[in-house]
Amino acid sequence: MPDVASSNQTPAGGSRGAGVRADAARVLDAVMHRGRSLKAELSTAQSRIDDGRDRALLEAMVMAALRNRADYEATLKSWLPRPLGQRDNDLRALLYAGLAQLDAMGLPSHAAVDATVEAARVLKRTHQAGLVNAVLRRATREPLVRADAQAGWPQWLLQRLRADWPEDIEAILHASRTSPPMWLRVNRRKVDRDAYAAQSREHGMDVQVPEHPVDALLLETPVAVSALPGFGDGLVSVQDGSAQQIADAFTLKAGMRVLDACAAPGGKTAHLLEREPGLQVIAADIDARRLRQVSEGLQRLGLSAQTLIADATQPDAWWDGQAFDAILIDAPCSATGILRRQPDILLHRRAEDVAALAGLQSRMLAALWPALAPGGTLIYATCSILREENDRQIEAFLRRTADARLEPLDAIFGRDTGFGHQRLPGEDGMDGFFYARLQKQ
Ligand SMILES: C[S@@+](CC[C@H](N)C(=O)[O-])C[C@H]1O[C@@H](n2cnc3c(N)ncnc32)[C@H](O)[C@@H]1O
Repeated sequence: MPDVASSNQTPAGGSRGAGVRADAARVLDAVMHRGRSLKAELSTAQSRIDDGRDRALLEAMVMAALRNRADYEATLKSWLPRPLGQRDNDLRALLYAGLAQLDAMGLPSHAAVDATVEAARVLKRTHQAGLVNAVLRRATREPLVRADAQAGWPQWLLQRLRADWPEDIEAILHASRTSPPMWLRVNRRKVDRDAYAAQSREHGMDVQVPEHPVDALLLETPVAVSALPGFGDGLVSVQDGSAQQIADAFTLKAGMRVLDACAAPGGKTAHLLEREPGLQVIAADIDARRLRQVSEGLQRLGLSAQTLIADATQPDAWWDGQAFDAILIDAPCSATGILRRQPDILLHRRAEDVAALAGLQSRMLAALWPALAPGGTLIYATCSILREENDRQIEAFLRRTADARLEPLDAIFGRDTGFGHQRLPGEDGMDGFFYARLQKQ
């Protein structure tokens, strides 16, 4: 968790601490009860907060409340004389934020309770401040009611996971609600990994230097991005270890023409260029707003690529006919491998979305394959753990594509599924991820 405890040291019940708790309740209410996206709501709320510690506290509360939603629901069900109705949605959200502070985040109880009770007043729930106080005080004295590990998961997804990963289902459920470590990617164009690790330790950060991925550093306790030495100067980026391994799946040489077909917000484009700045990269994405983040990120890191607003399923509309030596399809997917980072997916994803995404992924593979030069490499990747989007997708592609050959990847990419490699969430401390390396004959 970022540096949030200090933010709690605002005068107990002071308006600043209460304001952040009220913001957390508003974000949670929108996400849990009105189908809104966590990322969008959180970033809007954070953009209105000046203090970096308060922004971090807001994020930590919202994440902890969503990851442990099922426990807090079970606790309120058991402790309240009557269930809260729809008219009390923001109150429920505030109680979740309060329980998260005491439970998952382990914040000092006095300040957490006082500021959350005060937040009830900010939310114009003064008449219910006593109830918030009673619930949170009880939580300081008694253990919470724990829900079954499967509570809060949609049935369709549990069924899929039981079918796809019968041996691993418990581990997946557990890892998906665990707060992830922070992975950094050191920009080898600017600084050596060991030197950056030493610099970080001088700033009091507890960094580990893993064997893989080779540009990565690992922090068990995340810090605010603004606390990372040299972040603004492009020395380092925040990127999960699984995503960093994409660069290891390619063999890159100066002058190669590379298409990153789903590039935004640009973490993998940047990493490819940090590895080999002599690449000619086209970073394409269908979303113009997200594509701007690619340019901004590259600028911070001192790298450059051509960016292109393009639909990967329609290369006829934008491809100049010059074949690519390497193509990355980091495909839009169910994101079931990163529930620990995007816990709202459990609330919002529908079974029919997966079929639609699998159709889109299949069209991308089919449309971009002709743009790959003979002997060229296409990496297909997702942050999904559903076989429909991963090994079954590749199996079907190989069946219908005579000049495609699946190439081996080594064990650092996770388990071999026969049609690629899969890492399940939390394995090696990383996100759930799928990789397949295809070569054109
Ligand atoms: C998993 S994200 C890519 C993450 C990115 N590679 C990175 O490392 O930062 C998938 C991206 O696919 C884009 N996308 C979705 N449909 C697309 C399409 N038809 N053509 C191109 N991009 C598409 C989305 O806008 C999204 O940015």
